Amino acid sequence: MTRPVISATGLYTPPHSVSNEELVTSFNAWVDRWNNEHRHDIEAGRAEAKLHSSVEFVEKASGIKSRYVVEKSGIVDPKVMRPHIPERPNDQISILAEIAVNAAKEAMAKAGREAKDIDAVICAASNMQRAYPAMAVEVQAALGCEGFAFDMNVACSSATFGIQTGADFVRAGHARSVLMVNPEICSGHLNFTDRDSHFIFGDVATAVLIEAEDFAPKGAWQILGTHLKTQFSNNIRNNFGFLNRGDPEGVGKADKLFVQEGRKVFKEVVPMVSHMIQGEMDRLGLKATDLKRLWLHQANASMNRLIAAKVLGHEASEEESPTVLDTYANTSSAGSIIAFHKHSQDFRAGDKGLICSFGAGYSAGTVFVEKAA
Ligand code: COA
Repeated sequence: MTRPVISATGLYTPPHSVSNEELVTSFNAWVDRWNNEHRHDIEAGRAEAKLHSSVEFVEKASGIKSRYVVEKSGIVDPKVMRPHIPERPNDQISILAEIAVNAAKEAMAKAGREAKDIDAVICAASNMQRAYPAMAVEVQAALGCEGFAFDMNVACSSATFGIQTGADFVRAGHARSVLMVNPEICSGHLNFTDRDSHFIFGDVATAVLIEAEDFAPKGAWQILGTHLKTQFSNNIRNNFGFLNRGDPEGVGKADKLFVQEGRKVFKEVVPMVSHMIQGEMDRLGLKATDLKRLWLHQANASMNRLIAAKVLGHEASEEESPTVLDTYANTSSAGSIIAFHKHSQDFRAGDKGLICSFGAGYSAGTVFVEKAA
């Protein structure tokens, strides 16, 4: 059977960074306006005054210092509190496909690939900007690839699920080179007026090339094993969809954007993911000392510290479990791929590591890799 490897990765970082200070300033100005507009109801006990957010809380609770976004002016305007992303006409590339293509081009250039070399495109992300045609088919056309393409959504775990899917196509002989992209415009589904979550997400796009070992360039990443898991939970949810579009109240309502029970997510996902990683290590015959690095999903710094400590048996150093959360925030499925992309150049042949994602569903995925000669 053909063995799948990861040949290269690509990263597109949007041009605008928003600091916690900027975000909290606009949030607090929005709160003041809201409280003023609703002062009679607040005074009469019919409404509760909204509370300010704080830079200290955001950094301490999450580890996030800033985030990149595709559009900044609307987010930091207390009168708007959402990104201005104008709709594009159908004869222009859509923004999600555009950022995916940017990341894809870097991965393809690194592996020396032309469009004709790619047999399949998978767009694996949390929030597709439309129902159809699939974003992946648009990316395929924009790059000029043949073969087939489709979208898949497993929220924050989309990339690891995409890697296993691509690896299975290679194993089965359905494709020799699979391009898997993760365009994540999280600012589109974030409620910037929700104190509990307004700081969580950022925008980005990543790309991963999964190829047959005998076709891949030298120094690729052997895929030692992949494992996927899902377990239903309402603790991270977004109810936006086509069946609630007719409800004039519904579209603007908070549950049509990202909502979560952050504490419960923290408590339930940490043990689920650490058990899953340990089970897969046992199956693959790997010990903690065999792993040079963990490229974990980037949602919360304390969560990653706990998972890494459980897996490694000691507090992980920044080298053992690098963070990109501080500058990128949570970028959903792309987080672990950004960490892998930015922190893997020092690997030598035989070094092993783990790409791991977790998030809504719940869902979790592990991809153990070894740098080839
Ligand atoms: N500014 C200041 N204070 C805030 C605040 C803000 N923006 N948001 C919440 N608080 C307050 C709360 O009101 C609460 O106050 P109280 O103790 O007086 O009631 C306190 O801070 C703690 O709030 P809580 O929501 O319990 O914070 P937390 O420590 O759990 O951190 C998260 C919140 C979201 C950062 C954290 O739970 C998390 O990251 N969880 C995992 C989320 C995750 O991985 N999600 C996956 C998404 S894909």
